[in-house]
Amino acid sequence: MGQSLPMTSSITLTRPDDWHLHVRDGAAMAAVVPHTAAQFARAIIMPNLKPPVTTAAQAIAYRDRIRACVPAGLAFEPLMTLYLTDKLPPEEIRRAKAAGVVALKFYPAGATTNSDAGVTDIRKTYATLEAMQREGLLLLVHGEVTSPEVDLFDREAAFIDEQLIPLRRDFPGLKIVMEHITTREAAHYVRDAGPLTAATLTAHHLLYNRNAIFTGGIRPHYYCLPVLKRETHRLALVAAATSGHPNFFLGTDSAPHAAHLKEHAVGCAGCYTGFNAMELYAQAFDAAGALDKLEAFASFFGADFYGLPRNTGTLTLRREPLLVPEAFAYGEAQLKPLCAGETLAWKAA
Ligand code: NCD
Ligand code: ZN
Ligand code: ZN
Repeated sequence: MGQSLPMTSSITLTRPDDWHLHVRDGAAMAAVVPHTAAQFARAIIMPNLKPPVTTAAQAIAYRDRIRACVPAGLAFEPLMTLYLTDKLPPEEIRRAKAAGVVALKFYPAGATTNSDAGVTDIRKTYATLEAMQREGLLLLVHGEVTSPEVDLFDREAAFIDEQLIPLRRDFPGLKIVMEHITTREAAHYVRDAGPLTAATLTAHHLLYNRNAIFTGGIRPHYYCLPVLKRETHRLALVAAATSGHPNFFLGTDSAPHAAHLKEHAVGCAGCYTGFNAMELYAQAFDAAGALDKLEAFASFFGADFYGLPRNTGTLTLRREPLLVPEAFAYGEAQLKPLCAGETLAWKAA
């Protein structure tokens, strides 16, 4: 006769960090930064603005604009990145390092939102990657090939074979983070690739498989890149996130877009999870019976990999219903959070 354990009613974690975040700029930024700052102490800010953040001076100016959006009484530190292009000069890396920039983001040209200025051939960036390896800046990767002949659902696995394995070999001292991984292939690659290769995992890829995009009709708020995959992949991601392996850590990839541009004939890719990020992760870890693994994933492993100190404050999550609002004001537009109108089981205090 099994005795069921009492359900955990609350957990207190060291304050977490978000190692992959889009906050945009202007009025959009003012709408989303308070949500992230309420839960996270720090976040890696993606540089895919229009035009992209490609210089240390632009990164510093962007950091100042983000800081100005943090509500009084909250401590939140944006960690800045530059957008790698075919032409980013190696000399910029030293300036970036001096400015406190921590990483560069590699978007294969055309792979995702605002990636037109991305890299057309990684070999064109080798002098810059050498400077990064020397200065200790990380390389963050959107890991999908862009060839139209490759099936959309196979683009991450193809990227590992065609680009990541050679890159890893050519720069053995460079820290590489494969961002927002979505496949078993990526989870297994990172698990076995050694101490300088890590991956971020989003809450939505831990919670949903590709059926979510098509349940009863097309649901654009579940469309992101890399696109949700089939259930076997989701299970491999949950296994990685809850494994206690230090090279898997939290990165929401919260990617706000105006609702009317997602609910569109050519809808934008990106899920807005910044409002309820930790509640969504708690739900995923709870469902896997692994709440005890959440703190290291959310609050320790990312800081350790980046070589930054762990945070000192705490965040408490309670098993209490959270009714997710239908929408937020987003400049002149509306922003719909993931799970809009639904009730979640966890609520951040
Ligand atoms: C991101 C965005 O909207 O900037 N979209 C997404 O679907 N994830 C870009 C990205 O992270 O690839
Ligand atoms: Zn991406
Ligand atoms: Zn992203």
